[in-house]
Amino acid sequence: MRDNEFNWFRGFLEKKSGIIITSEKKYLIQSRLKPLLRTHAIADLNTLVSRIKRSESSPLANEAVDAMTTNETLFFRDQYPYEALETLIFPELTHGINASKSVRIWSGAASRGQEPYSIAIAASESIPQANKRVKVLGTDLSVEAIAYAKKGEYSQMEVQRGMPVKRLVRFFEHNDKEKVWKVSPDIKSMVQFQNGNLTDDNIVMQARRSGPFDVVFLRNVLIYFTPDERKNVVDRIARTMNKGGYLITGAAEIPTGNHAKWEQVLFKGKRLWKLI
Ligand SMILES: C[S@@+](CC[C@H](N)C(=O)[O-])C[C@H]1O[C@@H](n2cnc3c(N)ncnc32)[C@H](O)[C@@H]1O
Repeated sequence: MRDNEFNWFRGFLEKKSGIIITSEKKYLIQSRLKPLLRTHAIADLNTLVSRIKRSESSPLANEAVDAMTTNETLFFRDQYPYEALETLIFPELTHGINASKSVRIWSGAASRGQEPYSIAIAASESIPQANKRVKVLGTDLSVEAIAYAKKGEYSQMEVQRGMPVKRLVRFFEHNDKEKVWKVSPDIKSMVQFQNGNLTDDNIVMQARRSGPFDVVFLRNVLIYFTPDERKNVVDRIARTMNKGGYLITGAAEIPTGNHAKWEQVLFKGKRLWKLI
């Protein structure tokens, strides 16, 4: 891949997704984009880049951005966010002085759906009539990941990563013919999926249609952005939340916003963030 094409693609990726690839990581872009050559019968990476240049919003361009995102995820990842929902956040939202009738939660980097479905499962275990009162929105930049999440079907390997057997048999149905575990209709009805780009201002309007949110999961995604972009993303999120709402980031991710103020709440030694 020529330097010109490499640098153009890095800029394009940053503009489209906020994802930063440093100049020494040409190998990363090359290895992630190469599979697209075969599927689209394109001769080489330079030709691929020139086709993306011609139409930056084409399906090919989206696929190239998708190929650069890391969709790594699992059910009940890190456990503590879900324990915090069940023992701290849900009781506060449903029994406190400010008891609200419905609970709205947004998973802003939902990947293939494991995170929002885990949230819905945690909610139905601790909130009476959760299927009527709790709404979960899952958004992600990746078109492929959201299409997958919408199906709500997971392989044995995928459910083995994080889903306890008790929850598996209660909240999934096994389809013997297709050899997949299907999320139960009750859980599925609580979760809605859409494509959404956290680095685009439009995400605020888009998410607000399903909000305002009491809880936002923004886990293992801030790491991809520059410090400035991180601040912008966190501020956009704050604009979709209720005061007193919780932001749950990845364990090492600290929200710094230009405008929003966050109070740190320690839960079992892990940081959660409350909008004040
Ligand atoms: C490592 S996964 C994390 C998934 C899940 N939150 C978790 O912690 O398991 C990161 C996700 O962020 C998404 N992503 C990257 N840039 C994004 C952006 N600008 N807007 C929305 N999602 C983005 C990727 O497509 C990917 O699915």
